[in-house]
Amino acid sequence: MAKKKVLNVAIDGPGGAGKSTVAKAAAKELGLIYVDTGALYRAVGVNALRNKIDSKDAKAVKKMLKDTLVELKHKDGVQHVFLNGEDVSDEIRTPDASMAASNVSAIQCVRDFLFDTQRDIAKNNSCIMDGRDIATVVLPDAQVKIFLTASAEVRAQRRFLELQQKGSKDSYKKVLKELKERDYNDSHREIAPLKPAEDSIIVDTSEMKLEESISTVVNLIKEKM
Ligand code: DC
Repeated sequence: MAKKKVLNVAIDGPGGAGKSTVAKAAAKELGLIYVDTGALYRAVGVNALRNKIDSKDAKAVKKMLKDTLVELKHKDGVQHVFLNGEDVSDEIRTPDASMAASNVSAIQCVRDFLFDTQRDIAKNNSCIMDGRDIATVVLPDAQVKIFLTASAEVRAQRRFLELQQKGSKDSYKKVLKELKERDYNDSHREIAPLKPAEDSIIVDTSEMKLEESISTVVNLIKEKM
């Protein structure tokens, strides 16, 4: 049987650049599967929390992985993440899970553990995959590589408004400071640091409205379809 030709789109970028919103909308418009790889790291983080394991302790996390199964499934076009057979799609979004995900994502054996899951999805499905190292490590042969970014101030402002809507009292200054700290950690970590691939197209959304960011990404993908 002839091998199915799949289209792989990699979207990387810093937190708050709007990757997931843009990637999700573009995938819907183009009939592609949207894969949020951050959810995989978050599920591993949740497992560490549940087992009261220090998410920075590489040795303990490595041991934990022996009894960890993380799967992504799509129901009606929406991604769900499963931890040892249980749907944890909501639980992975808590602030504690974010922190644990960030910690475990800096451990090499965790990245290796999740590598095949990501590769297998991309091998079998035309998809838009978003993360930090998709173009550089996971899918270096993706037909489209996009690095979606925006200035720290603009990203902080977007996040600040989002948090306010959820009832948060955090100041803009605090949000900006934390965002800059995360940027620094993400791009300076030893393993798979956040950076564009040499052939990534940089899309700076600082001056763009959401619709324009989506149409820019959709048009870049259409050129390759
Ligand atoms: O995109 P997110 O905020 O849901 O990601 C959660 C954490 O996982 C974040 O701290 C960065 C990390 N991550 C990563 O290291 N590599 C990826 N491909 C995706 C996420």
